[in-house]
Amino acid sequence: MNILLLGAPGAGKGTQAKLLQKEYGLQHLAPGDILRDAVKKETELGLQAKNFMDKGNLVPDELIIDMMLKKIESTDGVILDGFPRNIKQAQALTEYLKKIDKKLNYVIKIVVKENEIIRRLSSRRVCPLCGHSYNKVFNPPKVEGLCDVDGEKLIHRKDDTEETIKSRLQVFEDHTRPIIDYYKDSGVYFEVDGEKDFMEVFEDLKSIVIE
Ligand code: AP5
Ligand code: MG
Repeated sequence: MNILLLGAPGAGKGTQAKLLQKEYGLQHLAPGDILRDAVKKETELGLQAKNFMDKGNLVPDELIIDMMLKKIESTDGVILDGFPRNIKQAQALTEYLKKIDKKLNYVIKIVVKENEIIRRLSSRRVCPLCGHSYNKVFNPPKVEGLCDVDGEKLIHRKDDTEETIKSRLQVFEDHTRPIIDYYKDSGVYFEVDGEKDFMEVFEDLKSIVIE
């Protein structure tokens, strides 16, 4: 089973992907997490991506498309969180899935309004090791400042400042929103209200996904 989660920055894609991963034993593939790890390790990819990410811009397609398609091929079932993010990436994914005789079973948009997104992202804290997302207000870790999963010290993402959040939202409008239309008539497109409580959103997702 392959699931694509769509939604603006801060909609809760990462949070819900982790829950779905556990529930259905799928692999969670998030280019944002892969890129942040590459930046931290100062790999070639990380060095090339860092400037784009810090400003909230998309990393060039040449660095993203091949990397993501290779990872998809080697999985048995996947939750895509953050790819595709523009029409070119969506078309590349469609062609590639066709070629390897796979398909997206569910494309689900998590809908959250802009003022709520800004509220969530300015108080988000993330684990630099496992990518788990917390929130100082809505979803604090058990021990303040430490990841529940691995005990790592939580960080405030560099692109979670008010200015960069606004440019990420603009990038979403300009580049990512058009792919919603691209998938809307696919027959596997759904929307959930992402402003509900975490577990209610998860229940809504599970009611869409049939194993
Ligand atoms: P990426 O890491 O994908 O960032 P994003 O799309 O901006 O999304 P976020 O991770 O900010 O939000 P999310 O939806 O995962 O929300 P979360 O669950 O954390 O990308 C980062 C950068 O990498 C991009 O800007 C770009 O430069 C590059 N990049 C990535 N993919 C690329 C691609 N395909 N092509 C080119 N470049 C690419 O939740 C947010 C907060 O809200 C958390 O604090 C959480 O605890 C809280 N929360 C979640 N759900 C709820 C709820 N129901 N109620 C209350 N609070 C909630
Ligand atoms: Mg995320």
